[in-house]
Amino acid sequence: MPDNSHSVKQLSVQNLSVRFPTVRGTVCAVNGVSFELSQGASLGIVGESGSGKSVTARTLMNLLPRSAEVSGGVEFEGADVRRLARERVKHFWGVKMAMIFQDPMTSLNPVKKCGTQISETLRYHLKRDRKTARHEGIDLLNLVGIPEPKKRFDQYPHELSGGLRQRVVIAMALACDPSLLIADEPTTAVDVTVQKHLLDLLDRLRKERGMSLILITHDLGVARRRCDEIAVMYAGRIVERGKPEDLFEDPRHPYTDALLRSMPRLNTPIHSRLEAIGGPPPELINPTEQCSFAPRCTLAQADCLQSVPQLSGVIGMREIACFYPANTKRGRRALAKNRARGKTAAGLQMSARRHTSG
Ligand SMILES: Nc1ncnc2c1ncn2[C@@H]1O[C@H](COP(=O)(O)OP(=O)(O)O)[C@@H](O)[C@H]1O
Ligand code: SF4
Ligand SMILES: [Mg+2]
Repeated sequence: MPDNSHSVKQLSVQNLSVRFPTVRGTVCAVNGVSFELSQGASLGIVGESGSGKSVTARTLMNLLPRSAEVSGGVEFEGADVRRLARERVKHFWGVKMAMIFQDPMTSLNPVKKCGTQISETLRYHLKRDRKTARHEGIDLLNLVGIPEPKKRFDQYPHELSGGLRQRVVIAMALACDPSLLIADEPTTAVDVTVQKHLLDLLDRLRKERGMSLILITHDLGVARRRCDEIAVMYAGRIVERGKPEDLFEDPRHPYTDALLRSMPRLNTPIHSRLEAIGGPPPELINPTEQCSFAPRCTLAQADCLQSVPQLSGVIGMREIACFYPANTKRGRRALAKNRARGKTAAGLQMSARRHTSG
């Protein structure tokens, strides 16, 4: 179970925004994201496809294309990460902070042996000699639970199953003993049994190494069981953040509420994936100054269309970006008003809405 006793601040992200100029206009992928992560803690980031989860992660890892316009601050263990990026500091990414991606082939080179790729990481960042790097590489394969690690060390990625390849990627990410691991949908490409093994492995490594984890996932059940805290993203913003039990038992943002209502009603929603919520997806290109969930929100009132609600609340407790939070008196009143007039202030018809709060 998650340990909530973490206190030393490790990562601080302040008002982070990322824009991509394109021929169709400026894509506002991340809009004023702020969060903190304590040493050894785990943060789950959930949200529909396109909500800015990967761009946030890639910003932390300095992996954005040159065209990206970034503003805001990122501090990691006292270092200004954006300054490190400007100064092209080596041996930071992949050493202090490492990342694993959804598709292992994003990180693995198909024409190099798995072991070579791990030992190259060790030799480049930690200056290990060839023999030591091989030795440590095999130890890493063993650590991540790969059977016959010596044999696997000398195999090519295509000779391994998807689950084993993802373990190799985890071994590579762990090679330099990072204090923060960012896992972007690490189990989307594998089946449920392998998924459990990989997530158990990440849990174990967190405990053994005191490593912090940012786990990006579509799977609300995974976030609930594996993370100390969850941030829900919508249209490039964090719209709700809090402890899993608070979010699941008493969702306040209408989007979180709708997400939970759209989950299959099983007794144990362990592998429940996000289902589409009715209404148009958010506009990320030159968006208007309004709540981006307004076109889909059953609670929307006139003021939701006039300004963007900011995330507020008590850091470390719960934060919500909404003028009429669901499951509150104010939210219920807004819902009743919309029901009475048959539509929301944004024009959404109330009649056949499935995801209705109140
Ligand atoms: N290099 C890029 N150029 C233009 N738009 C981009 C680029 N990378 C990501 N985006 C856009 O940013 C938005 C957020 O993407 P992403 O963070 O990948 O979403 P997700 O939450 O699914 O991980 C999407 O609309 C995506 O199309
Ligand atoms: S109630 Fe208003 S502010 Fe809250 S999510 Fe709905 S549209 Fe946005
Ligand atoms: Mg993504």
